[in-house]
Amino acid sequence: MKKLISTLLLAILTVFIVTGCSGGGSEVSVGIVLPTKDEPRWVQDEARFKAALEDSEYTTEILFSQGSSAKEKENVETLISKGIDVLIIAPHDGAAAGSAVEAAKKEGIKVISYDRLITDTDAVDYYVTFDSIAVGQAQGQYLIDNVQGSNVPLYLYAGAASDNNAFLFFEGAWNVLQPKIADGTFVIANSSEADALKDKATLTRDEMGKILGQVTTNWDPNEAKNKAQTNLTAAGADLKGDVAILAPNDGTARSIADVFATDGAISSYVVSGQDAEKASIQYIIDGKQSMTVFKDVRTLVKDAMGMAIDILDGKTPQTTGSYNNGTIDVNAKQTDVIVVNQENVKQELIDSGYYEAGDFTGLE
Ligand code: BGC
Repeated sequence: MKKLISTLLLAILTVFIVTGCSGGGSEVSVGIVLPTKDEPRWVQDEARFKAALEDSEYTTEILFSQGSSAKEKENVETLISKGIDVLIIAPHDGAAAGSAVEAAKKEGIKVISYDRLITDTDAVDYYVTFDSIAVGQAQGQYLIDNVQGSNVPLYLYAGAASDNNAFLFFEGAWNVLQPKIADGTFVIANSSEADALKDKATLTRDEMGKILGQVTTNWDPNEAKNKAQTNLTAAGADLKGDVAILAPNDGTARSIADVFATDGAISSYVVSGQDAEKASIQYIIDGKQSMTVFKDVRTLVKDAMGMAIDILDGKTPQTTGSYNNGTIDVNAKQTDVIVVNQENVKQELIDSGYYEAGDFTGLE
């Protein structure tokens, strides 16, 4: 009996030592860092990662940076200390994240930039993303297709200048809106910088930076609300009536829409969005937000995890193109987006199984 017990103890001890020490047996193999829990968009990503990883044999850990590059760096260091081989990261600030991923690279960790490109560093191996130019184009085109007449006041809003995507979204929107500003369909209502550049079909990054400097929301619904209020206070009667609003995402779209809805001199507004956040789906059903761009996060998660697993298995991930990050061309896999409005919301988001009908009211 004694012998049996000591043999058992030895066996248990051996298991501990082997799992504790072997290189492949690191605590966590894939580390995931997301920018903030304060925006439903990224909580959606977390949920989709968790669902995708339920039966996975790989160990993963998801950490949030809460809108702080310092916290993000700390998160990456924590994951490095846990022995990760692959880091999947959506940066809070694309340039500031450089030092965090350089630390990872030094340890031989492969870095996948997730949704937002990390810029100005060679320490990014891959990029998984939606077609962000197409997102902006879809937003702009929706406004064009849903206004009538000419001289329609156009209110421009954008994301945070620290997010490379904010430029891509704006660029996509400008591509389609600019000709319609030039032909008199729209008049720019809230940006002297955009107005000064209105004859330029293509803008440089610096030029876009100037416009963003005026119309950024910093991805913050509260800042968006304040900016919309300031804009409407400054606007004369000729910039009211039936208007169009380029809002960069759902969180900001809802708060901007709420401001416009309470201005008695605004008779109607068309407003864009993106992310298909649940609250915005309800706004669309209720006619308070005109459209959203649905980015199926399940696909992005699948692509990112697929790449990570390829890397862990010693294979080279498949990519479909590349994005220049200011220092290198980063091999990328890109996913298409879907425009959603009142007409197709049920089909695209409920019938497709993305959300449950019970989460909404007033669905036909
Ligand atoms: C993402 C959007 C998101 C925004 C604010 C962008 O980089 O692509 O989906 O709404 O950041 O978090």
